[in-house]
Amino acid sequence: MQRSPGSPRTLLGLDLISTGVLLLSEDGRILYANAAAEHVLQLSRRQLTAVALDAVLRDAHRLHPIIERARTMGASFTEQEIELHLAGRTNGSAKRVLNVTAVPVDADHESGAALLLELRPIDQQVRIAREERVTLQSQANRELVRNLAHEIKNPLGGLRGAAQLLEAELSDPQLVEYTQVIIREADRLQALVNRLLTPHRLPRYTKQPLHPVLDRVMAVIRAEFGATHALRADFDVSLPDVECDAEQITQVVLNIVRNACQSSAAVAAPAVTLRTRVARQVVLARRLHRIAFEIAVIDNGPGVPPEYRDRIFFPLFTLRKDGAGSGLGLSIAQTFVAQHLGAIEFDSEPGYTVFRVVLPFARPADEARLNEGTT
Ligand SMILES: Nc1ncnc2c1ncn2[C@@H]1O[C@H](COP(=O)(O)OP(=O)(O)OP(=O)(O)O)[C@@H](O)[C@H]1O
Ligand SMILES: [Mg+2]
Repeated sequence: MQRSPGSPRTLLGLDLISTGVLLLSEDGRILYANAAAEHVLQLSRRQLTAVALDAVLRDAHRLHPIIERARTMGASFTEQEIELHLAGRTNGSAKRVLNVTAVPVDADHESGAALLLELRPIDQQVRIAREERVTLQSQANRELVRNLAHEIKNPLGGLRGAAQLLEAELSDPQLVEYTQVIIREADRLQALVNRLLTPHRLPRYTKQPLHPVLDRVMAVIRAEFGATHALRADFDVSLPDVECDAEQITQVVLNIVRNACQSSAAVAAPAVTLRTRVARQVVLARRLHRIAFEIAVIDNGPGVPPEYRDRIFFPLFTLRKDGAGSGLGLSIAQTFVAQHLGAIEFDSEPGYTVFRVVLPFARPADEARLNEGTT
């Protein structure tokens, strides 16, 4: 009986599984790719057939040790969480995080296949774990900062009052200058402390279209950055209404778009896009949503330096060189998004940074009831 690796009869079953499967020849060429592999590698079966792995993955060399181990052991070998990039693509969507298993195939296999490679994407699991870790850390940090702000607030009032009393007793104008410094600096500190202590109110949720909210954000941003930046709104206007607090979502998107504009200001032709799309099969606050509302902010700036990626959501963390950043924008955005039971995440490389906010269309009934009980 004649069998070939591409024959639908023999390999149809492989098209029904969610793990990407590649059959490789002795010299590392792809003999067969199943449907999931097409999806993972973003190429059709025809484009995949007979090409070498290096033509498909920019860092295919990272798979070589796994293949070698499987071959020398004569048994399957798995490596977890390998980050690979699709060849011929340069933006954030090119990254794949995969669990890779190499399985040696019988040498006398009629197809000529020497090895089977399983590619199991774990982007979403990694994203959820990272998000949960960052959210927990940020919550702890915010709590600490808020407590500290409270502690500073009270003596600050006393300090300012005492300086005012002292000033009233002083006749020498030169000495008044000193009390004025105390009062001015106390006011500055007071303003910072007040910013640290927001948000204090619970969100007020209303089912509403989000695009008018985003239009208003774009209007503000156009006024601030329209002269220097190419600003683009790319909205999927067919998206349904979202149950949300419009004021908070305005603040979230404004903070993220401002960051994008500020971060890309130094490049030759700064460009920022605000995009809306439907997100499918996403896990938000540990619930699987069939569809959700995705807001993406894309800029062509230098990106977030890798060594700071875990810290940019922390309160008071800033890399702005102009001294104008208080490092609160993302921390506030994260707090508001978490209250909406949504998620906020980013991918960044030089020339392409995308921040994504994913919101559920509606709040789960039990959460909504819980919220009503506390307001
Ligand atoms: N699109 C981006 N590209 C590169 N770096 C970014 C981007 N967005 C945020 N960052 C980095 O994250 C840091 C923290 O951002 P965040 O909005 O919390 O504070 P900030 O912008 O510095 O100050 P504030 O928003 O309070 O005025 C920024 O200082 C910047 O270094
Ligand atoms: Mg900011």
